Amino acid sequence: MPENNKNRADPFAGKALSQKEYTELTRALLSEKYPLGQPLAFVHTYGCQGNVSDSERIKGMLDEMGYGFTENVEEADFVLFNTCAVREHAEDRVFGNVGALKPVKSEKKDMIIALCGCMMQQPHIAEKIKKSYPFVNLVFGTFAISVFPELMYKTLRGGRRVFEITEKNEPVAEGLPVRRDSDFKAWLPIMYGCNNFCTYCIVPYVRGRERSRKLCAVIEEAKEIIAGGAKEITLLGQNVNSYGKGSGDGVGFPELLKMLNALEGDFRLRFMTSHPKDCTKELLDAMASCEKADRHLHLPFQSGNNRVLKAMNRGYTREKYLELISYAREVMPDISITSDIIVGFPGETYEEFLDTLSLIKEVKFTSLFTFIYSPRKGTRAAEMPDPVPYAEKSKWFSELLKAQEEIAAERSKSMLGKTYEVLVEGETKEKNGMLTGRTGGNINIDFPGDAALIGTFVKVKVTQAKNWLLTGEITE
Ligand code: SAH
Ligand code: SF4
Ligand code: F3S
Repeated sequence: MPENNKNRADPFAGKALSQKEYTELTRALLSEKYPLGQPLAFVHTYGCQGNVSDSERIKGMLDEMGYGFTENVEEADFVLFNTCAVREHAEDRVFGNVGALKPVKSEKKDMIIALCGCMMQQPHIAEKIKKSYPFVNLVFGTFAISVFPELMYKTLRGGRRVFEITEKNEPVAEGLPVRRDSDFKAWLPIMYGCNNFCTYCIVPYVRGRERSRKLCAVIEEAKEIIAGGAKEITLLGQNVNSYGKGSGDGVGFPELLKMLNALEGDFRLRFMTSHPKDCTKELLDAMASCEKADRHLHLPFQSGNNRVLKAMNRGYTREKYLELISYAREVMPDISITSDIIVGFPGETYEEFLDTLSLIKEVKFTSLFTFIYSPRKGTRAAEMPDPVPYAEKSKWFSELLKAQEEIAAERSKSMLGKTYEVLVEGETKEKNGMLTGRTGGNINIDFPGDAALIGTFVKVKVTQAKNWLLTGEITE
């Protein structure tokens, strides 16, 4: 942008423009600023699939504004980090990586640096960025994604930094463009926000209350995805089981699953996350009746001890959880079950932790996402006494991992000689002529094969099982 643009009055100030109009204005500004070639954007996403899906929509908007994309931050004209606040470690990484942008920007003065997502939705973080990271041009929270074109326009006009972290109680914005990262796997958000307020969790504070997308919007997007050739659709929400509450369509999650299953096409349906409190037999029955629904259930239990579950405000007991698991296995004998666990919740004792350990041994999960408790400012658990030192919690954590490794090794062995349908996801990291694919149970198998198979379903027989690492060969 020419220097004098900075002080030129904005002819559109105070006018109510649509986001489409802001996109066009931004596009015009960009072609003025970069007359010789297309500006490039670098977008990096932290956190859960919900964030990945948001980034795909932001990239869709950047695309419409005229940006190309790069994986190399140094050649980018626009850098965006979409951040996560779920644990302290996630936040530390963001601060470290933003700090590392300072020398990059001093080499490239007109680079625009933007931060968005859950971490930015916290006022104390936005304040810290304002004070200590003056080279950051734009900060916006999770409620501002749909007005991203307007924020970009304001930022590109220059002159001042733009901060937008107001919490808005609005219905889900529809009609945003999407630039999907994969052409054979697609994220499909069905709801946003969370009402559960588990005492350790920051998500309800940074994502607001539950809002379901309209049934017609979900079905429409699913049809587009299928028409685009995708082989796997993952329905997303912090608690997919409460889909539809308050949306006025009268269709709950089990019904939605059946409707999507009825769409024509060769694709798999996945969903995450289910909360055990709202996971019903009706849902498990619906899943069992849907041939396109993968036989995989991600059902986080967090702790195997009832006192801790209560202190976490999870709304179910160990017994209720185990009952759900046994019903799921009754109606879908081949189901693969995964979970999330927190070790060292404030006040948890070693004996209570042993209940978590015994639960994983009883259920034999396919895999686990395990976390050491991380205090989050503003949550109820952050105010609770937390006498156990971190080093002690780490020991419990290692004990848990060791037990799960044995369970996973046992499970791997039980797969030897069996044949599974896998969706071929890509080449292995080593790029040694091996491909990697995922079973419907969300288990990875590596096998030799041609890269042309990526994005297709193949049948693979497991020939080797080393710990959790499975190798096989294509049978057809
Ligand atoms: N909505 C999902 C979870 C979203 S967060 C659910 O309820 O299942 C993903 C996982 O991060 C949680 O399941 C929990 O295991 C973990 N987590 C959330 N807050 C945490 C905290 N403060 N410390 C450690 N782990 C946490
Ligand atoms: Fe967090 Fe609980 Fe909501 Fe999951 S259900 S996002 S853990 S508050
Ligand atoms: Fe993180 Fe926000 Fe997801 S806090 S886990 S990116 S909802």
